[in-house]
Order: sequence, then structure tokens, then C-alpha cells
Amino acid sequence: MKPETQKKLVKFGTGLVGMLLFGMGVSLFNAEADHQGAHQLEVAKVKDSGMKRMELKLPPAAQEGLKLTMREHLEAIDAIVLALVHEEFSKAAILATEELGFLKHHVAMQREAGATFPAAYHELALEHHRAAEVLGTVIPTKDLKHILPHLQQTIHACVVCHQAFRL
Ligand code: HEC
Repeated sequence: MKPETQKKLVKFGTGLVGMLLFGMGVSLFNAEADHQGAHQLEVAKVKDSGMKRMELKLPPAAQEGLKLTMREHLEAIDAIVLALVHEEFSKAAILATEELGFLKHHVAMQREAGATFPAAYHELALEHHRAAEVLGTVIPTKDLKHILPHLQQTIHACVVCHQAFRL
């Protein structure tokens, strides 16, 4: 190969590599932009969730049963926090287990007799009872640093379902 041709080839090669690198930079930049776009979409979805909640379409009696259970749930959370404030740990543990745990699931199901729920609703309901059961086992440690995250998870399970479903 003539030195002149060799020089030209090297120049061409460098140019090609440069172009490739530039191209990669552009696609990386695009990927980043796509990622940000997806993130903004997620945020918008959460903000919109109040409008997009799935309607359960329950018969009136089941709706009343569900609302009664829900009001008792809120009272249970209130009573648990109050018991913790007074350092009545065994009382708080019993409330968590009996008022929000799996026992309560059976009471709730009886009140909503005959009504059918989407599978995702069942999953969220079980998730919330599970969180309460765990809270009930952690409260006897009497260690608030340990208890509070589980109390938060229990309340968070209420919020997650409210964001997804409505009557
Ligand atoms: C598996 C789903 C689910 C879980 C878990 C859940 N809720 Fe609800 N809750 C609902 C639905 C659905 C409604 C009706 C909301 C609507 O139509 O806007 C409701 C309504 C309520 C209401 C209003 C009741 C009324 O009389 O109108 C309260 C209070 C409430 N929930 C408290 C709680 C608390 C506290 C928890 C957690 C300890 C909880 N809920 C967990 C589904 C759930």
C-alpha cells in the first residue's frame, strides 16, 4: 500500500470512529431524555390517580359494609397510636392484630357478602392485613424506632388501596 493511501485510510478510520462516538453520545442523550420523559409520566400518573381510580361497583349493602369496616380501620389506627403514646404496648399489639389483621379480613368479607372484587383489590387487602400482623409482632419489642416504620407501612397500605379503588 502506498504511504499516501495508508494516510487516507487512517484519516478515514479516525473520522469513522469519531462519527460512531458522536452517534453513541446522541443516543445516550436520547436515552436519558426518554428516561426523564417516562419519569415525568409516572409522576403525572400518580398526581392523576385521584381521577383514575377503579370503581368497585358494589351492591348498596356491600358498600355500607365496606364503609363501616373502613371507619373502624381508621378508629383502630387512632387507638393504636394513642396506646403507643401511653406506652401501652400490649394493648397496641392486640389492636393491630385483632382490628387490622387477618381476623378483620373475615369480618370484612362477611359484611361484603356476595360481592365480587377485582383480584388486585384482594391483593391490596391482604397486603394491608399482613402489614398489620407484622406491626402486631413488632410492638412487643417496645422499641419505637422499630415500631414506627411498621406503623407507617400499615398506614401506607391504606393509602395505596385508596389511590387505586373507589366505590
Ligand atoms: C384493599 C383496599 C383498601 C384498604 C387496604 C383500605 N381501604 Fe379504606 N377504603 C377503600 C375504598 C375502596 C373506600 C371507598 C373510597 C371512595 O369511594 O372514595 C374506602 C374508604 C375509606 C374510608 C371512608 C369511609 C366512609 O364512611 O366513607 C375510610 C375512613 C377508610 N377507607 C379508612 C381506611 C384505613 C384507615 C385503612 C387502613 C388501616 C384502609 N381504609 C384500608 C379501600 C381500602
